[in-house]
Amino acid sequence: MKKTLAILMALVMVLGACTFASAEVKTYKVGISIYQYTDNFMTLYRNEIAAYFKTLETDEVKYELFFADAKNDMAEQTNQMNNFVTQGMDVIILNPVQTSSADVLIDIAVGAGIPLVLINREPLAYDENGNTLDERYEGILNNPQVCYVGADARQSGTYQGELILATANQGDINGDGKISYIMIQGDPENIDAQYRTEFSVKALTDAGKTVECLDSQVGNWDQTKGQELCANALTVHGYNVEVVFCNNDGMAMGALTAIQTAGRIVGEDIYLVGVDALPEAVEAIKLGDMTGTVLNDHIGQSHAAVDVAVQLLKGEEIQNYYWVNYVKVDKAYAEAQ
Ligand code: BGC
Repeated sequence: MKKTLAILMALVMVLGACTFASAEVKTYKVGISIYQYTDNFMTLYRNEIAAYFKTLETDEVKYELFFADAKNDMAEQTNQMNNFVTQGMDVIILNPVQTSSADVLIDIAVGAGIPLVLINREPLAYDENGNTLDERYEGILNNPQVCYVGADARQSGTYQGELILATANQGDINGDGKISYIMIQGDPENIDAQYRTEFSVKALTDAGKTVECLDSQVGNWDQTKGQELCANALTVHGYNVEVVFCNNDGMAMGALTAIQTAGRIVGEDIYLVGVDALPEAVEAIKLGDMTGTVLNDHIGQSHAAVDVAVQLLKGEEIQNYYWVNYVKVDKAYAEAQ
């Protein structure tokens, strides 16, 4: 009887130990610095990072997320990176304010031995005059624990041009043999802005079209600024403006307000394209208030960024670059959503 009791007790202890072991939770600390919280696109992206991390949690693995708003301020972001080191982050996801100073931020993480996933703003190589070169960045290529997750902005620019070529008069509304456009640019610090500006127009000239740039201004990805710039251009150039290219939908939504205030009608006397496929832009396309946009897949990008962060936490080998495709959004595509 005594023996049976002893065996039973031992069994209970072993079982207890097993239960205890399986209930042990590993919590990883993840630092996430976003260049600016007021950015419409990065808000969708940021929320999806949080939502997706949640879906990956198990009884054994949890993720404690430390989000920080860099407020478009490089000094602020440098502080946040230093704080992440002090707080003992296990991995960092970084949306850099200034890609031209990315080495400073990368050095902080690498110096502290913390793996780093850069997102959305790709640092490129620079020449001695500070101009971007069409080359991959050494700070990423040379570090096995650093990578970049993004989309190739050349593709989005090309799709914008193709959306204009797909219209009834291929962008030449007044039939004068040339496509007259205005360009509303994002923050030039972001290569997305540079490539979209260049490749949207290149798609037109590659198709043999003559183009005329009436105005090209920096709207810093901002809706209010987009509205202001478009309103000014419409006042100065009136019906000569046939196409409004915006580097993102935030600015395109602003431009739409300006277009409507000026009594212009998209699809009849003017065309308007953006990038991102924000829900409000997809809605405008369905209504015919926007010609088209390009899906900047924040779901695909945020999931890829989180997946590679998890791989780094597990000590797995990673690639230095991960690319997510853009998708052209015309009326038919928008209506099918
Ligand atoms: C998006 C913009 C956004 C920017 C932020 C771009 O890829 O298209 O909407 O403002 O990223 O860096």
